[in-house]
Amino acid sequence: MKPKIKILIPVKKIKKRISELGKEITDYYKNKVSEKKPLVVIVIQKGASIFGADLIREIKLPLDLRFMRVASYRGRTSPQGNPEIFDKIQSGIGNDHVLVVEDILDTGKTLAFVDDCLQKLHPASLNFAVLLIKIIKRQTKIPKVKFKAFKVADKFVVGYGLDYNEIYRNLPYVGILENKNKITK
Ligand code: IMP
Ligand code: MG
Repeated sequence: MKPKIKILIPVKKIKKRISELGKEITDYYKNKVSEKKPLVVIVIQKGASIFGADLIREIKLPLDLRFMRVASYRGRTSPQGNPEIFDKIQSGIGNDHVLVVEDILDTGKTLAFVDDCLQKLHPASLNFAVLLIKIIKRQTKIPKVKFKAFKVADKFVVGYGLDYNEIYRNLPYVGILENKNKITK
């Protein structure tokens, strides 16, 4: 069956919001970071790669770009449902101001896990920038998200970095995948 994707957040709206978010982040960190002590931006792969690439170009400050890969083991692949780190950040973040960039906050397990791992490395500060916040009731205690782009209803979304079975990350907009359960790989 052909997938049906309904556009939820069009390209123009994403661009505008990311530009605003970049300004908010720039304002917040402008007196805290410098060339000597850049803002450490950790983009969570793969979902936040597109958002992260656009967002960092709207942050007008010296920054050090890093990546982390976390598998949330959703659905069948997860007996326990606990996230796991694959690629660790390459060097220490002790005393650095750190901004983690994530694609979506769903149950919050991934963010809580990343928060826990990074707090142990004693950054000077740790904040989160998240593209989409799903409006749901959460059981997990989640870290506060300081920079949020959009709130979305509890639907499965794809595009602008987000996937379903690794497909759709390259869509320039965020859309709702309407017939998800009927798609076979
Ligand atoms: P959480 O740990 O439940 O908050 O889930 C976070 C991860 O699940 C995200 O980083 C995404 O990779 C994935 N995810 C959650 N909801 C969606 C969705 O609607 N579309 C695509 N991926 C999602
Ligand atoms: Mg993800």
